[in-house]
Amino acid sequence: MIFGDETGLPLSSEAGVLVLAAGQGTRMHSPLPKVLQKLLDKPMLWYLLTTLKRTFSSRPMVVAGHGRKRGEEACGSFETDLIYQERQLGTGHALQVAWDHIIRGGFKWLVVLNGDTPLIRPHQIQALLESVRSKDADVGLMSLELDDPGSYGRVIRSADGRVREVVEAGDFDARVHGPDVSEVNSGLYAFRISSLERILFQLDSNNKQKEFYLTQLISLAQQSGMTVEAVNAGRCSGLLGVNTPGELIHQEEYVRSCIVNDFIGQGVFIRSPDTVRIGPEVFIEPGSEITGPVEIYGKTRITSLSRIFSHCYIEDSFIDGGQVFCFSHIVESVIDSDTGVGPYARLRPGTRMRKGSRAGNFVEIKNSSVGAGSKINHLSYIGDTSMGEGVNVGAGTITCNYDGREKHETIIENKVFIGSNTALIAPGVLQEKSMIAAGSVITRDVPGESLGIARSRQKNLEGRSPLKNFKKSD
Ligand code: UD1
Ligand code: MG
Repeated sequence: MIFGDETGLPLSSEAGVLVLAAGQGTRMHSPLPKVLQKLLDKPMLWYLLTTLKRTFSSRPMVVAGHGRKRGEEACGSFETDLIYQERQLGTGHALQVAWDHIIRGGFKWLVVLNGDTPLIRPHQIQALLESVRSKDADVGLMSLELDDPGSYGRVIRSADGRVREVVEAGDFDARVHGPDVSEVNSGLYAFRISSLERILFQLDSNNKQKEFYLTQLISLAQQSGMTVEAVNAGRCSGLLGVNTPGELIHQEEYVRSCIVNDFIGQGVFIRSPDTVRIGPEVFIEPGSEITGPVEIYGKTRITSLSRIFSHCYIEDSFIDGGQVFCFSHIVESVIDSDTGVGPYARLRPGTRMRKGSRAGNFVEIKNSSVGAGSKINHLSYIGDTSMGEGVNVGAGTITCNYDGREKHETIIENKVFIGSNTALIAPGVLQEKSMIAAGSVITRDVPGESLGIARSRQKNLEGRSPLKNFKKSD
C-alpha cells in the first residue's frame, strides 16, 4: 500500500534532513498547528516523518514553534531532534535558527522540506539528492508544474534554462519577471552545507511579507557563482503543499484514493470505492470485501474472507474472517472467523468475539470476551464480562457493571441461557448451564444447571380489567 511498500534505500550518513514545521498556518483558520491537521486519521507531520524514517539513516531535525507542545506530542513516536523557532519570521529564518544543530550533525549535504508537504515520497527525495550530488551542485530544488501557479513560488529560469531565482507569489510582477510561469517551487531542497554556510546569513526581509524567505537562497547562490540544480517533477499531486482547508481536503482525497486503489489492485473487493476511507496504517488481505461508505483507521487488520458492509466505522481492530454488518462501530476489538456483528452494533475497546459468536442489532459490548458460538442478538449491554461458549443472551439483557465508583466483572459460563430483559448486577457468576428467567434482576451467583428467577409473582384479578365496561363506540 501507499505508505507501506516504498522502503527507499537509506541514504548515506552524509545527508541530514530538516523539516520546517513552525509556521502558524494562518490560512488554515484553525488553532491547531498546521502540520498537525489530519489527512484521514494521521497528522500531516506523521506522513512526512514516516517517509523520512524510510529514507534517511540520521534522525530528522524538526523546526517547531507555533503549538510547540502539541508538535512534540505528534513527533513522540518518531526519533527526531526538535528545534524551537520562537518567532516565526519566515522559512529562511527557520533554517537560520536550526543552523547550529545542522553543523553539529557533521553532514556534507542537507535536505530541507516544508512540513506542509505530507505526501512527498522517498524516491523524490532521493532523486533530488542524487541529482545534486552527481552534478556536484551547491543547491538543488524540486519543482512541479501547475496550470495555475496560485500562491506558489515561481521558478524563474534564464534564457539558457538555468534557474535564476524563485519569486514568491506576492512579489511576482510580470513587468519585472516576465510572463507568469507554470513551474513552481515544491519546498523540497538539497544543499551542500559548506555552500549554504556562505549565503544563509545574507538573507533579508525586503519583500511583500517582510519575512526571511528560504527561497532567496536560490538567487543568492546564483549571485555567488554557485551551481543551482532544479529537478522538475512535472504534474505531481503528491508534491502539493497544504495551506488552506481546501488544499487539505484536496490532498486528503488524493491520498485516500491512492490507498483504496492500491488495495483494489491487490485483490480487495471494494465497492463504492469513492466513499471508502482507509487510513495509511491499515492492512487488508486480498479476498476480503468492503462496501462503502465506510471508515477504517488505525492499525486495523482485516484478513481474507472478512466482509465489511456499508456505514461502518472500524479503528485499531482485528477482523479475522468475520462479517461486520451495516452501521456498526468497532474500536480496539477482535472479531474471529464466522462471527457476525451488527447491524447497529457497537464494540468498544477490549471486546473479543470468538469464532461463530454473534452480536446483533443495538448491542453494545465493552471490555468483554464472548465465547465461541455465543449469541447476543438484540438490544443488550455487555460490559466487563467473560462469557463462555454456547451462551444465549436474551433481548434487553444488561450487565450492571458500574456502582458509581467502580467497575465489576460478570462471569457467564458455558451454555448459560439468559431470558429477555434481565439485569445482571455485577459482580456475579452464572455457572454452567444455568438459566435465568426473563425479567429477572440477578443479584447473586446462580449455581450450575439451576434456574435463577428474580421477579415479582404475577396476579390475575378477575373482572378487574378497565376495558370491561368500554362500549364498541368508545
Ligand atoms: C513555501 C515557499 C514557496 C513554495 C511553497 C511550496 C517560501 C518563502 N516559500 O511557500 O516558494 O512554492 O512553500 O509549498 O519558503 N515555517 C516555519 N517557520 C516560519 C515560517 C514557515 O517553520 O517562520 C514552515 C511552515 O510551518 C511550513 C513551511 O515552513 O511547513 C512552509 O511555510 P509556508 O508558510 O507554508 O510557505 P508557503 O507560503 O506555502
Ligand atoms: Mg505552504
